[in-house]
Amino acid sequence: MKKLAGLLGILAALFCVSCSQSSAKNEHNCNNNKTNSDMNTQNTQIETAKDKVLVVYFSQAGEQYSVGVIKEGNTKIVADYICNYIGCDRFEIKAEKNYNMSYNDLIKLAKEEANKGELPAFKGGIEDISQYSTIFIGGPVWWGTYPQVMFSFFKKYDLNGKTIIPFTTHEGSGLASCVEDVKEAYPNANVLNGFAIYGHDVRSGEKKVIDWLKGLGF
Ligand SMILES: Cc1cc2nc3c(=O)[nH]c(=O)nc-3n(C[C@H](O)[C@H](O)[C@H](O)COP(=O)(O)O)c2cc1C
Repeated sequence: MKKLAGLLGILAALFCVSCSQSSAKNEHNCNNNKTNSDMNTQNTQIETAKDKVLVVYFSQAGEQYSVGVIKEGNTKIVADYICNYIGCDRFEIKAEKNYNMSYNDLIKLAKEEANKGELPAFKGGIEDISQYSTIFIGGPVWWGTYPQVMFSFFKKYDLNGKTIIPFTTHEGSGLASCVEDVKEAYPNANVLNGFAIYGHDVRSGEKKVIDWLKGLGF
């Protein structure tokens, strides 16, 4: 337990570094309230709520920071809120490899993957991505960005030309560099600023999510 607390301390410090670095690139990072309210004043509202919408997400159940052992991952719960509210198709990015392990082990593995720029394989796929004009992309922040397996998805599917709405669940880093990384993957997509919510707030956070969706025009 002590070991875990120590590790989390280091992680928290790293989150802060990640926050200050990414806030230089995007002032919305690491500031959930600002991100949400600013969404309403930008020229980023989707044109119609009748677009065919897809939610793509990765989420890891099991032992998680701040919420203990969970049966449903935090990001999955946000994806559920989105789909229940707007009605949409969904694709869960599930890695071929097994991430079911202790939080400490997962932290180490994820760091290795990120350092090596690994692109882990994922299961299944989307039959016809061309039918979706608006795609939500959501995942936990792992070491300052999305989990590497999400980058495998980005590599496989060309979402240029679409409206992409990133969201994260996190424990301090906010959006971290997720929005920038999505923009880098899809330079010709209309990537909105995104939405971030603490993992430990998700279970009581449905209203926050719906308010954000309303602000987008859904
Ligand atoms: C491997 C790993 C790395 C993490 N790195 C960060 C991080 O850099 N910044 C942060 O705020 N939270 C970090 N977290 C916490 C998760 O982002 C947070 O618990 C998230 O809500 C988990 O979502 P999920 O249950 O959908 O997987 C990390 C968690 C794990 C397991």
